[in-house]
Amino acid sequence: MADWSHVGDAYAASFAALCAGAVDAVLDEAEARTDGRVLLDVGTGPGTVVIAATERNWDAAGVDAEESMVATARRQRPDLPFFVRALPHLGLEDDTADAVTANFVLNHVPDARMSARELARVAKPEGIVVATVWHGVTSPLRPMWDAVLDAAALDRPAEKTLPPDKDFARDADGVAGVLRDGGLSGVRARVVSWDFAFEPEALWAGVEGGVATVGGIYRAQDAGTRARMADEYRRYTGERAGADGRVTVAHRAVLVSGRPG
Ligand SMILES: C[S@@+](CC[C@H](N)C(=O)[O-])C[C@H]1O[C@@H](n2cnc3c(N)ncnc32)[C@H](O)[C@@H]1O
Repeated sequence: MADWSHVGDAYAASFAALCAGAVDAVLDEAEARTDGRVLLDVGTGPGTVVIAATERNWDAAGVDAEESMVATARRQRPDLPFFVRALPHLGLEDDTADAVTANFVLNHVPDARMSARELARVAKPEGIVVATVWHGVTSPLRPMWDAVLDAAALDRPAEKTLPPDKDFARDADGVAGVLRDGGLSGVRARVVSWDFAFEPEALWAGVEGGVATVGGIYRAQDAGTRARMADEYRRYTGERAGADGRVTVAHRAVLVSGRPG
């Protein structure tokens, strides 16, 4: 599991764009399932969902476990409410929001079911919880990072996996089951997909900034190994870049929604 400490600005300038691809679908789902206009985004990172929701006339606030994420969100939009709060105990009142969203967060917590229960608790009885999780993979960029790490001949730490009783299938049934096990009803799940085109140096700045699992691995290396990783990354992306210099990777996520109780 990735360590999100101190990476707010680096995440906002790099990997945040991956997750932004699902934001319109998340808000479409929320609007299809509630008439209310109060939204709480949990695990908000730099506040992408909150900012987009505000543009759609939601009264939106965001919380995140990581102080640097909240600081980045506040710096981007000082006019919007962002607070430090962590799943699975948000410390907020019951029935706080009409829509409670969690965009690529349930795949980063130790107990997704307990966290889903907490998302439901802070949603109003007629409200809706909407969440996304990558489909089938830990990250759609994983094959690229694996190729870079292999080419750089890097020993990487053993993968941190969830214990079997906390894990779930990264498909529509598996993520829907997380919400049902968390006590939600009227659960529906589908796969959304989009192409993510990135500028290689912008994404690499996120790795150098320690973002995501690959950023943690990079930060743990000596200078020579870091340089080797960078060379392999530039070779890999250079071979795949389009005429505009960007690399396109297909992204698929499970989007799930459910009602509290
Ligand atoms: C992949 S990022 C997604 C950020 C944002 N939702 C977006 O769409 O860009 C995962 C976020 O979840 C946050 N997070 C991780 N564990 C958390 C927890 N237990 N409670 C709240 N937020 C958490 C991280 O700090 C990070 O900002």
